[in-house]
Amino acid sequence: MRSTAIEWQSRRFAAWVAFTERIALLCSHKQTGDAGMRTQVAIIGGGPSGLLLSQILNQAGVETVVLERATREHVLGRIRAGVLESGTVATLRAAGLGDRLDREGFYHEGCFLTDGDLSIPIELDKLTGRGVTVYGQTEVTRDLYEAQDAMGTTIVHGVEDVVIQEATGTAPFVEYTLKGARHRLDCDYVAGCDGFHGVSRKTIPEDKRQEFERVYPFGWLGVLSKTPPVSHEVMYSNSPRGFGLCSMRNAELSRYYIQVPVGTDPNAWSDDQFWEELSLRLPKETADRLVTGPSVEKSVAPLRSFVSEPLRWGRLFLVGDAAHIVPPTGAKGLNLAVSDVYYLSEALIDALKSGNETGIDGYSDRALNRIWKAMRFSWSMTTMLHQFEGESPFEAQMRRATLNHLSRSETARKDLAENYIGLPY
Ligand code: APR
Ligand code: PHB
Repeated sequence: MRSTAIEWQSRRFAAWVAFTERIALLCSHKQTGDAGMRTQVAIIGGGPSGLLLSQILNQAGVETVVLERATREHVLGRIRAGVLESGTVATLRAAGLGDRLDREGFYHEGCFLTDGDLSIPIELDKLTGRGVTVYGQTEVTRDLYEAQDAMGTTIVHGVEDVVIQEATGTAPFVEYTLKGARHRLDCDYVAGCDGFHGVSRKTIPEDKRQEFERVYPFGWLGVLSKTPPVSHEVMYSNSPRGFGLCSMRNAELSRYYIQVPVGTDPNAWSDDQFWEELSLRLPKETADRLVTGPSVEKSVAPLRSFVSEPLRWGRLFLVGDAAHIVPPTGAKGLNLAVSDVYYLSEALIDALKSGNETGIDGYSDRALNRIWKAMRFSWSMTTMLHQFEGESPFEAQMRRATLNHLSRSETARKDLAENYIGLPY
């Protein structure tokens, strides 16, 4: 009898708490003049980082809303690197994104470095037991959008003026403008996946973060052409005229790059000029086999190494390019974004499903540990293969000596291979 009375009283108390919480929520929405939306994780940015995070979280039953500034067509129009580490492939497969990747991706057992006519095979698979998969980032993003559509997740395109509020409190929210109207999205956590120029990193006060940066005095002029690749494996070339890279998307689509001075206008280069300059940077035997054709895309990308730490400010977490940029020599950009997402998704699922916050407390250190090692590798590859304006002949000799050493030492090749295929998560 007595226990029934207590149960009844506690039920009344619970109902009263729920009623007051509902009133508080309605009042907060009134203040912003918005019917209001609520989710567990608000994701700013619908590039590869944001979409993959949304994919993994929704698979685990965690609700997300992705807020993306651009249109889907714009996001899919970007041509980026195309070399996936085996850890990236495993993470994409586990997220349900393996079908087309397994059908259309090309497994590469090795890559090449060259210096003049010296060709140095890096036998990745033989040296480490693993290779890499060539599959364009654009294709990864396309697969992500399709998988998100199939799952029915929420991706809002065309948002403007995103502001992250109350990140250090217990109830963060995000405000944004869509078609002229201001909206509010309440959430438990915010994931800043909005790239180098996004708002997330800048939301963290300057005295709460430290930035590390090296801007290189050159960029990469990239050409995509409907021609068969000159090499069956990716080839990185050092030469007295600067760096060159031969890569591919498939048996009929090639991707080539040459080092150019910073600020170069891609339209200032005709296709013929590009092919001629590339040929001069490759071993003669490779240049003789080069099949040229009209470019279907031509662009210049600047080269930068950048890290902002820590990756957490209260309930806001930085992921991918929002937190770090690597030069593309070594193709670590997308792969690092995927390992960030792997760590953060695990941490958020633990926090939201079991109330265990150990993962979110450790996210920044865990991710940075891997980020700094990939930073070092991309910087060392860039230094070993590019000509720096105004450098002394000594620097050029150091590059040649490093490449010469690689050609003679399996230990040196193994170290490069271990980093190239991706350090363990
Ligand atoms: N509000 C909403 N969306 C934004 C905002 C903003 N203020 N600012 C940027 N975005 C969007 C961009 O339009 C873009 O689609 O965030 C997305 C960020 O995507 P990426 O720049 O591709 O960054 P990320 O998803 O971390 O991908 C990392 O991309 O740049 C390469 O080398 C990098 O391969 C790596 C991968
Ligand atoms: C590419 O295919 O675009 C590519 C390959 C390797 C790199 C960078 C870019 O290191």
